[in-house]
Amino acid sequence: MENLGVGMDLFGGIFKGKKVLVTGDSGFKGSWMCLWLKALGADVYGYSLPPKTTSDNFVTTRLNEKIYHQDGDIRDLDSMKSFFRKVNPDIAFHLAAQALVIQSYDDPVETFSSNLMGTVHFFECVRATPSVRVAVNISSDKCYDNKEWVWGYRENDPMGGKDPYSASKGCAELIFNSYLNSYFNRSGACAVASGRAGNVIGGGDWAENRIIPDVFRAVQQNSPVQVRNPHSTRPWQFVLEPVFGYMKLAEKLWNSPSEYQSGWNFGPLDNHNYSVGQLLEKVQARIPSLKIQSPEIVGKPHEAHLLKLDVSKAVTLLNWRPLLNFHQTVEFTVQGYLDELNPGKDLYEARLAQIESYSQNYFIPISNDIPA
Ligand SMILES: NC(=O)c1ccc[n+]([C@@H]2O[C@H](COP(=O)([O-])OP(=O)(O)OC[C@H]3O[C@@H](n4cnc5c(N)ncnc54)[C@H](O)[C@@H]3O)[C@@H](O)[C@H]2O)c1
Repeated sequence: MENLGVGMDLFGGIFKGKKVLVTGDSGFKGSWMCLWLKALGADVYGYSLPPKTTSDNFVTTRLNEKIYHQDGDIRDLDSMKSFFRKVNPDIAFHLAAQALVIQSYDDPVETFSSNLMGTVHFFECVRATPSVRVAVNISSDKCYDNKEWVWGYRENDPMGGKDPYSASKGCAELIFNSYLNSYFNRSGACAVASGRAGNVIGGGDWAENRIIPDVFRAVQQNSPVQVRNPHSTRPWQFVLEPVFGYMKLAEKLWNSPSEYQSGWNFGPLDNHNYSVGQLLEKVQARIPSLKIQSPEIVGKPHEAHLLKLDVSKAVTLLNWRPLLNFHQTVEFTVQGYLDELNPGKDLYEARLAQIESYSQNYFIPISNDIPA
């Protein structure tokens, strides 16, 4: 299967035949986005650091044989600009970032330089490349000033962030806003927007200190998974949910450049937020051999406990909505990892099958969760 079945294009055909540039294509979300774009008939060009491990989705799906990829650093403006000039893309997505909270404590300089100057460089490249009609920056739910309250953050809430990662994402949003107001907020300019999503899970993610990769490392090693914050609540989403949102946003910007230039939240619906413990219970129901330990760690770095997004804006104005309930989210995720642990499986085909199956959910209403 090289392309999605007829009727499975959720974006009105806007990506077909277009040149789409994706930074961070070697990462978790970027690789899934490239697979989807390619299946929709786009010419896909990726720019990022090389994949970190041979287990990364980029490697196991042989993405470098399917798209044009160039190794490059977003902190290097000249290199990035010359890539944009070479490609002359119609649409650009910026996903490259130092994306881990714990890593940001270890190396704040790398985090701030990649996530701040990387964002500046992205918009400089867009500005210098007239072919780009639409550019979408990818940020995070952690960009908001987290007050640990029960309400979901709205797009007009203040930016903030205590740890270096969260602060870098708050800053990246201010950079986006500055570029929007200074350069792109006029007729004929490139249409730009920023997408903010929550905790994303799905096959192909092997990053350090993320709960689901930790679970499947533990399953592989037949050892218990160590859980840092079992009571923390997160807006868990299957990886294709925010990617669907970013691509929907690009479609809207393409068709109506001035109407959608702002920040957009993508997350579960209000009553679909669950704790780390509830997530693990669901995974354990599917993989009974999974053992869980939550040792009390003294002096662990601060991480937010309660984090929810209000997605009313995207649901009302973008014609986007989450397509999976919590149960389906865990099912898609576990299946993605089981496919990886099956040595005979063609992962490129397996990922496309998940994209097709996910897309089919667009045509049926979301069902209530089934208890574990
Ligand atoms: N995964 C999540 O749960 C989550 C949640 C909210 C927001 N996000 C955001 O979504 C985006 C993608 O996240 P992900 O989960 O795919 O992360 P990832 O760590 O899997 O991938 C990051 C990508 O960025 C690239 N990169 C990092 N530093 C770079 C640099 N200096 N130059 C060039 N490339 C560089 C990496 O090579 C990789 O391709 C990031 O902006 C991240 O902050 C992720």
